[in-house]
Amino acid sequence: MDHDIADPALADLGRQRIAWADSHMPVLASIRERFAKERPLEGLAIGACLHITTETANLLRTLQAGGAEVHACASNPLSTQDDVASSLVRDEGIAVYAVKGEDTETYFRHIDAVLDARPKLTMDDGCDLVSRLHQKRPEQAAGEVLAGTEETTTGVIRLRAMEAGGALRFPIVAVNDADTKHMFDNRYGTGQSTLDGVIRATNVLLAGSRVVVAGYGYCGKGVASRARGMGAQVYVTEVNPLRALEASMDGFRVVPMEDAAPEGDIFITVTGNRDVLRKEHFEAMKDGAILANSGHFDIEIDLVGLAELAGGERRAVRPDVEEFLLGERRILVVAEGRLVNLSSAEGHPAAVMDMSFANQALAAEWVVRHSAELEKRVYDVPPEIDREIARLKLDTMGVDIDRLTPDQEEYLSSWTVGT
Ligand code: ADE
Repeated sequence: MDHDIADPALADLGRQRIAWADSHMPVLASIRERFAKERPLEGLAIGACLHITTETANLLRTLQAGGAEVHACASNPLSTQDDVASSLVRDEGIAVYAVKGEDTETYFRHIDAVLDARPKLTMDDGCDLVSRLHQKRPEQAAGEVLAGTEETTTGVIRLRAMEAGGALRFPIVAVNDADTKHMFDNRYGTGQSTLDGVIRATNVLLAGSRVVVAGYGYCGKGVASRARGMGAQVYVTEVNPLRALEASMDGFRVVPMEDAAPEGDIFITVTGNRDVLRKEHFEAMKDGAILANSGHFDIEIDLVGLAELAGGERRAVRPDVEEFLLGERRILVVAEGRLVNLSSAEGHPAAVMDMSFANQALAAEWVVRHSAELEKRVYDVPPEIDREIARLKLDTMGVDIDRLTPDQEEYLSSWTVGT
């Protein structure tokens, strides 16, 4: 079996860590058990471009249990857990092409290796696989692929642009948009793992520090609330008036970045857009300001602009932290401005990825079953799948809920009561 990984000797450690994550992913485990019996993905070649983590390993095992033949590459050059990649190759027989720290050329070579396996289903995180497939292999995209799924906000935005421009060549399920995905993964997963990444990389004290969170989508909400929970004074910057209003009424200080720049100790971008922190902001920042990004791509901090201001005065000061010298002031960038939660920590905890990847597995089953009826569009995860995942998750957490009485059901379906 073809593959490209850093070090096969890491497989034992990977296997142990995958099992640990599995013990926190009971919903996915129950789907795996059913998949092993029903084999809904029998013989299906899946090309997965995902962060190669312990949680992803358990998703790939689930797809394989369902009968799929899985080929996987990384969706970010820094997020691969090399021990996990090794175990997937040795213990699961999954073709993995991913090495932590791979350069851009290798990153795309690995995506090409997955596309060479001629997948019938794509499973993407950020849309690099699907975008490359459409741009470099339009005939393969149009003629061979049944459908795909997409994990993240940024990927869904790119796919909707493809759909609007008439470029999309097969149906895609927007897993990100399921309630049991973005309300939990994006908020509690990003919230916790982003701070985990900043803390592991810098060991900075959050209590009493001024944390500036750029973007108040679900990810920004999570980061802001967790930073506040650890005693930081949190500022939020936004371009969307509704979200700015929400942040303000959630009790955060909402300011333009221009005003936050001279005040902040730690800046965390989670907008999905480019150049959120740029020259005019770097010039106003305090000595020792820490910059980190938790958006999908490494474009939110203008690192070219920062390097220009530093004029070559830059050096590594800790693993994963680079210092740029602007005259007397030091600006510190974590993990090259790449996804800090996956580069400097382990990504979202398994218990939340349980729901995200349950959505992926069930969306894959659904899209294969319905592929003949689907158009070249971006689809939502069917609401019954979303509800089922919420129900299963509550069960595994030992949380029971009320049920409507017959009178209540009747009341809710009637429009004449009270007149
Ligand atoms: N995205 C965010 N956290 C992740 C994780 N732990 N595994 C895979 N993808 C992720």
